Amino acid sequence: MNGLERIRLLSLHEKVMSAQQAIELIKDGSVVGLSGFGGAGEAKTVPLALADYAQANPLKITLATGASLGNKIDGRLNEAHAISRRYPYQADPGLRKAINNGEVMYIDQHLSEMADNIRHHNLPAMNVAIVAATAITEDGQIIPTGSCGNSANFIEMADHVIIEIDNTINPVLEGVHDIYVPKARPNRGPIPLEQAGERIGTIGIHVNPEKISAIVLNDIPDSSFGMDEPDEDTLSIAKHLIQFFEGEVAAGQLPENLGPLQSGVGSIANAVFAGFEHSNFHDLEMYSEVLQDCTFQLIDSGKMKFASGCSMTLSEPCAANVMKNFDKYKDKIVLRPQELSNNPEIIRRLGIIAINTALEFDIYGNVNSTHVTGTKMMNGIGGSGDFTRHAHIAIFVTKSIAKGGAISSVVPMVSHTDHTDHDVDIVVTEQGLADLRGLAPRERALKVIEICAHPDYRADLLSYFKRAAAKGGQTPHLLDEALSWHASFEEKGTMKTA
Ligand code: COA
Repeated sequence: MNGLERIRLLSLHEKVMSAQQAIELIKDGSVVGLSGFGGAGEAKTVPLALADYAQANPLKITLATGASLGNKIDGRLNEAHAISRRYPYQADPGLRKAINNGEVMYIDQHLSEMADNIRHHNLPAMNVAIVAATAITEDGQIIPTGSCGNSANFIEMADHVIIEIDNTINPVLEGVHDIYVPKARPNRGPIPLEQAGERIGTIGIHVNPEKISAIVLNDIPDSSFGMDEPDEDTLSIAKHLIQFFEGEVAAGQLPENLGPLQSGVGSIANAVFAGFEHSNFHDLEMYSEVLQDCTFQLIDSGKMKFASGCSMTLSEPCAANVMKNFDKYKDKIVLRPQELSNNPEIIRRLGIIAINTALEFDIYGNVNSTHVTGTKMMNGIGGSGDFTRHAHIAIFVTKSIAKGGAISSVVPMVSHTDHTDHDVDIVVTEQGLADLRGLAPRERALKVIEICAHPDYRADLLSYFKRAAAKGGQTPHLLDEALSWHASFEEKGTMKTA
């Protein structure tokens, strides 16, 4: 059978079974942990079989993952009404709707914290872990696929482990993962990682083979990701950032290669990183979460020397090129569990520059990454909080307007706060970059309005700030007006006053 050769611990061959047999381990009410992060490396055959089963037989699970899943797995499980609770992150439109309708309880969590929350019983005990693997080694190590996510933790903590051998994954990936599992408190020491490019763990996840209850063979490939081409606005955002970095290097405030960089997810983040392509920077390093196409383009052009991430989320042509020429990339990338890729201790130690995307920010630099008009969940906080809170420089980017100009992304007060002004150093739109470091709230407001706001909204923001400042306060606000921009959008379809 195709795939058996990947199970190199021969005693495990007897555990190979169909997905339909494997899902008998999952009961109504089970807590299920799935591999997968950023749409890469998820188990597929078993969860899809579970979705088919749940269509005909009422069954609801609590679903935990690394982060978002590919192959519309969240969508299929949601259509089958199989998800009652979901954490820590998701990005499926159908599940988003069910979450916002209150049908699915969504616990939006910092991605670095999930593993410890399970390890230390802040979350319910895990019944079944379903983990995709490139191979199982002779000594029983599970070699992950395109992401590490929370797989090591799920395997450690679950009662039953189902391994999905992914025949579609190029075996060259073996060796790229660096699996390190921190000890449970109170016996935890420092994590011994001092450089982005260091390896501190093993190439696979160690598990007692007796804990593996089932092995299923999978032939469904990972999803591929289309990225919007950079547009005028995202190119401007990238230009402002590059100019800022050049200034910091010239002033001797940042090293010539800037130090390790983190990039958020999505089209804006990808475009911003692609901006480094046309810069004079070289020997760049990433210590990030998701490695997107731009990472490999920067490696190809010789601008980036090393990239550490938790998953690879690539377009089809980029994935094909990376797999075909993997020898070229093998010593330049490493994939780690998310409790390492997003670990606050490491982020603070390495002095990371974090660049994430905001839905909106306010005149004082508070950032909303998650809730549209303060109530409706978009995706989730993901790793943006892990990085922002602990970064050497925390940067947020966004276009100054959304929905054809009906929304200003710079508002008097954010309608939901994910990142507070205490943590946010720099905000950037296509209009400009506001460096808020060392500024008091009243100084921050003037800079944000003058530099980042769209001209259509600048006068209204300034009027708001001046009237609020006249009333007094360290962080002046007009409480009856602060969220009126969002209310106006909900009622009239625009934040514009005229
Ligand atoms: N109010 C309402 N909607 C807004 C908005 C605002 N202020 N700003 C943007 N939007 C909408 C856009 O119109 C677009 O809607 P559409 O899908 O209907 O076209 C959508 O939000 C996405 O915006 P886009 O400009 O395409 O940005 P993106 O693809 O780069 O995604 C986030 C932006 C914020 C949604 C995304 O980065 C995210 O989920 N971040 C949180 C998690 C995170 O930061 N992870 C990385 C950590 S390592």
